[in-house]
Amino acid sequence: MTERRLEFLRHVAQTSDAPIGLEVLDARGAWLRCADGRNYLDFIAGIGVSALGHGHPAVLRALEEQARRHLHVMVYGEYVLDAQVRLARRLAELLPAGIERVYFTNSGTEAIEGALKAARKLTGRAGFVAFDGAYHGDTMAALALSGNPAFRAPFEPLPGPVRHLPYGEAGALDAIDSEVAAVVIEPVQAEGGVRIPDAAFMRALGERCGRVGALLIFDEVLTGLGRTGRLFALEHFGVVPDIVVLAKALGGGLPLGAFCGRDEIISALAHDPPLGHITTFGGHPLSCATGLASLEVIVSERLAERAAQTGRELAERIRGLGVPEIAEVRGIGLLVGIEFHDATFAHRFVAETLANRVVVNWTLNADRVVRLAPPLTLEHADMEFALDAMGRALATARESVKDRG
Ligand SMILES: Cc1ncc(COP(=O)(O)O)c(C=O)c1O
Repeated sequence: MTERRLEFLRHVAQTSDAPIGLEVLDARGAWLRCADGRNYLDFIAGIGVSALGHGHPAVLRALEEQARRHLHVMVYGEYVLDAQVRLARRLAELLPAGIERVYFTNSGTEAIEGALKAARKLTGRAGFVAFDGAYHGDTMAALALSGNPAFRAPFEPLPGPVRHLPYGEAGALDAIDSEVAAVVIEPVQAEGGVRIPDAAFMRALGERCGRVGALLIFDEVLTGLGRTGRLFALEHFGVVPDIVVLAKALGGGLPLGAFCGRDEIISALAHDPPLGHITTFGGHPLSCATGLASLEVIVSERLAERAAQTGRELAERIRGLGVPEIAEVRGIGLLVGIEFHDATFAHRFVAETLANRVVVNWTLNADRVVRLAPPLTLEHADMEFALDAMGRALATARESVKDRG
């Protein structure tokens, strides 16, 4: 064990007893060069962040230029900052018509918190609706929306009232009533096991929210900016939400989140009292500059379309392996979930794939599902490398389960 790793285990707060623990020296494209002398293929893109892979020249250029101009100069919202204004304007252009105001935060969970506050402020209602299997972040209110009771329980009481409904079941939507300030939903659940609802459900949800006056909040923290084969996942469903929440890929590798909506929704936070929702670092100039550079590459190089094609092939090739331990392969763009019949096998598969130098990862709220989310720029040769590594991992996992049996 290296000295660094020992210090990591001793001084850096741990989130579990089993961190992946790769000691990264540097990263380029889809590859991580590590202290064990091996290169690993990043097939989760830092959990959906590194849409362009690592060290993209356009992002590094923007980072350098902005760093030379200025870093932090004032708390969010007080000064006119070029990078921030340009990114907000570009998002307003690309989001559905009417969604024209962007409130920048540092992370996804903070953007969820801001969206919830805006909904309460605008509607004067208290309640929220979320869905089984949902993940929206780990601050108190975002956690209250979590669709996994095991993660909520140790921290209760959490802000509420929050009611959880079954994901994708149109029949359950009548429970959304006029006490509800907002309904929060991931258009595709990632941590819930890559669950893809049908358009009829999403349309019914949009209609129900409209009828009872509840705001519809789409959490596109993971699905946004090309991941699902469209720039925003909402485009798959023909539903325009009231608020779109973004983060992860938004900063191009630097921390950045945002909640975006119509003027009257987002501006509700600016009055009565003024400064009722503020942040020091939200919309940091460096993050906005790298985020804008990354977004322009995603748009100009049509990476969403590329993700749709590559993702389709990736999912088909995994299905084609004809592996009996796999129950289903679900995919939308470059977000692919492999559902196994058995959770232990799924975990074994993740470990064996890592041993074959490809980083994949399970999902928080569905322990039989392994998620693949490589950079949108994934090269064909790298996909072949991953398929070979996963194929060998499946065989090894099968042998080890047989040996135990
Ligand atoms: C759908 C979704 N929403 C919200 C979050 C929280 O984002 P952050 O970790 O930046 O707070 C995540 C993070 O994984 C996420 O996947």
